[in-house]
Amino acid sequence: MYTDKVMENFQNPQNVGEAENANAKYTVGSPECGDIMEMTMRIEDNIIKDVKFRTFGCAAAIASSSMATQMLKGKTVEDALKLKNTEVIAALGGLPPQKIHCSVLAEEAIKGAIENYLKGGV
Ligand code: FES
Repeated sequence: MYTDKVMENFQNPQNVGEAENANAKYTVGSPECGDIMEMTMRIEDNIIKDVKFRTFGCAAAIASSSMATQMLKGKTVEDALKLKNTEVIAALGGLPPQKIHCSVLAEEAIKGAIENYLKGGV
């Protein structure tokens, strides 16, 4: 059901926890399943210097967030806002159709955190 990349990121997720001195933060819940994800970032000079996540979510949500955070580090705020869940799914080698919403959760958490930052920080 899951690709090796998904399993790898689920079993050994990267960037779990809370970014130190975070100035961007957002928590989002999935209307589909009720799972919750929190994303924290430290943004300096318009660059995502650090990004971490915590989730009460499924394997696909953990793998998506792990992959998304790895893709985000070092990006500008503008490029980070453009990151789509479809790119994260592609980097994971695919997700089962019923698990697509789990990657949307990661995208929404990222966008929400950056929007909060643009509004003046956490
Ligand atoms: Fe809830 Fe995947 S089933 S995030």
